[in-house]
Amino acid sequence: MLSALSTFLPPLLLLLLWTPLTPTAHGHQPDEQFHEELVVRPLAGDHVNTYFQFTTRWHYGDRNNLFHTQLTPRVIAEILQTYDVKELHISLTQGLWRYESWGYPIVDATGGAELWAWFSASNLTNDAVNKQWMQLANVFSGVLCSSLNFVDNTNSIAPRHIFRPQFMHHAGENGKQFVRYATLPREIVCTENLTPWKKLLPCGSASGLATLLNSGFVHNTKYHSLGVKVRTLCDHDDDNNCIVELTQTANLVYDLKLLEQSNTDFSLRRLFGMGLNGYCELATSSRIYAQRSEQGERFQLVPPPAFNVSSIRGGHRVSYGVYDIQQQFEAAAPDATRLFNIAWIGEKSAGGGRRLAVSALNLPPLYAHRYLLGNGQKRGRIATEIRNTHYEDLPVVLLELVPWYVHAYLHTLRIRNKAQQRREYATDVNDELPFKLLHYAPGKQRELPTHLEIGFVLPAKSSAMITIEVDYLLLKWLEYPPDANHGHYIGAAVISTQLPMGRNYSALPPEAHLFKDSFNASRPSYTLTLRTEALIVSLPTPDFSMPYNVICLACTVVALAFGPIHSVATKLMIVERQTTMPRNLLRKLIHKLKSRWGSKKEEATSVQETATDEKQQQQHEEKEAEQQESVICNEQKQANM
Ligand SMILES: *[C@@H]1O[C@H](CO)[C@@H](O)[C@H](O)[C@H]1NC(C)=O
Ligand SMILES: *[C@@H]1O[C@H](CO)[C@@H](O)[C@H](O)[C@H]1NC(C)=O
Ligand SMILES: *[C@@H]1O[C@H](CO)[C@@H](O)[C@H](O)[C@H]1NC(C)=O
Ligand SMILES: *[C@@H]1O[C@H](CO)[C@@H](O)[C@H](O)[C@H]1NC(C)=O
Repeated sequence: MLSALSTFLPPLLLLLLWTPLTPTAHGHQPDEQFHEELVVRPLAGDHVNTYFQFTTRWHYGDRNNLFHTQLTPRVIAEILQTYDVKELHISLTQGLWRYESWGYPIVDATGGAELWAWFSASNLTNDAVNKQWMQLANVFSGVLCSSLNFVDNTNSIAPRHIFRPQFMHHAGENGKQFVRYATLPREIVCTENLTPWKKLLPCGSASGLATLLNSGFVHNTKYHSLGVKVRTLCDHDDDNNCIVELTQTANLVYDLKLLEQSNTDFSLRRLFGMGLNGYCELATSSRIYAQRSEQGERFQLVPPPAFNVSSIRGGHRVSYGVYDIQQQFEAAAPDATRLFNIAWIGEKSAGGGRRLAVSALNLPPLYAHRYLLGNGQKRGRIATEIRNTHYEDLPVVLLELVPWYVHAYLHTLRIRNKAQQRREYATDVNDELPFKLLHYAPGKQRELPTHLEIGFVLPAKSSAMITIEVDYLLLKWLEYPPDANHGHYIGAAVISTQLPMGRNYSALPPEAHLFKDSFNASRPSYTLTLRTEALIVSLPTPDFSMPYNVICLACTVVALAFGPIHSVATKLMIVERQTTMPRNLLRKLIHKLKSRWGSKKEEATSVQETATDEKQQQQHEEKEAEQQESVICNEQKQANM
């Protein structure tokens, strides 16, 4: 297994050899440097990728010097002091990077929030790391105003194979490395994240390239991703010779059609709403790179760049026009107040060929998609499809983090393979690809997510379909989010491979810290990391309107019952005596008079005026009336019920 691993991913040693650790080799170089870079790459289909990278690199030497920060934000220095964190990656992303038509991004990220960190120190234990990890997430939740505080043990895993450390640490006797990874696919990225992110920059948003990043335009894009990466590089045998490197990135993809342009020309002013007002005075370098090869060929740059650079990396040639903003503004007349703008003018001669369609030839070597199969709210199947369009076999490692409310069954895991020309995946067992590595940590309800990592070799010009069956859990009613029917997210799968060539590849080499370091950076292989789409599953959701229905129904019944019961309980039953009328006229008259004078007099007069037989008759009549009363009462009661 170990030998398989080492062929899969480059050993750390190689990384150490590359890392240039000559921070104070030149006496005149300041210990702390800040660089700002902007890369503009026209993409296929009227899209433009703009990538901002702000790098602060500080050779702080001894740990105690961390108390005296200059350009590096204080919070970064403080987390290095407080926690044993050596490397940290945070990304906040909205949108989906489309690998098929856009190629590979310079920094890859998944939708929502993603966070991973490496911890290392002597005598560090797993429990201590778990604690530090949550505290770290809490710190950055405050620093970036995002919901990273939701990161805890129920959604974090410790990936085994997919992430390689990019930091260097003094290898102590008990020095162990721990990694933690978590995603929050539901997180929404907005202005409230951009503003604190800009505050980490030495010049803030006051001057320099960061002034271009105003929220009205950034959040209008099809894809935007903010990133923070921190790593420490310490000398092998001297822990007091260290560098901290903070890289802040903003990766945006504009859709020119959405900018309401009649043609595909664009300019900095169109993209960002304003031109550039200058450079950050604290920056050592401040540059704009405009890609001139591939899709960039169809544009003419106005003003033309100061110089061109070309880079051949892994057999793939790219060229950029370079604007040095510091030179640009120093060369300009000192009283010039005009904002600096660059325009990309589409070549008119190109005509119809301007909108280059993405053909099969342009596909990047590896890309992936993910979707859910099955129907109903009880069980389903997660399918991840990875395509290799290259003519060589590629090693692939896939990481799945399945949240605890979805049960994955390892015995149903299958990798089916199909050649590119075939249309469907065969169900034949012979067509299944064997695992080269498999790590599975089962989830636990409300405690741990399922962690699955698999490695296999994807044959040339073929695709693989990885499926695993899952059950959806019925949650407790308080565990549903406010909009329960929105569904629950399953974070993106992370896919990593080693490309033998640099086609469509633009990531920085791991040891480099500036974009220009990727020029001519040919290597034996190129580590590529991709993220698939995140999924939304609709878990069985109770009918949350049911309580309201019940309340309404119950209230109606109570209201209906209340009236009659109240009237029965409170009304006095006074029943008028229904005497049968006396037969002859005289008696009728007497009776009328009697009822006029009232009951008291009635008794008195009746004693005087009526004879005993009449009395008897009256008694008889009274009895009859009483009987009638009781009948009426009964009838009334029945009616009331
Ligand atoms: C990938 O690189 C090839 C070779 O340069 C290029 O023709 C193609 O357009 C690129 N594809 C994408 C999606 O960028
Ligand atoms: C690490 O543990 C060893 C023994 O367990 C102890 O001697 C050493 O002092 C500890 N180191 C630190 C930095 O705590
Ligand atoms: C840069 O390259 C373009 C063609 O790609 C060319 O037109 C231009 O003159 C070059 N600029 C310089 C300064 O060499
Ligand atoms: C990269 O290498 C090519 C060919 O060797 C050279 O022409 C070019 O100037 C180099 N680019 C950089 C940025 O050094």
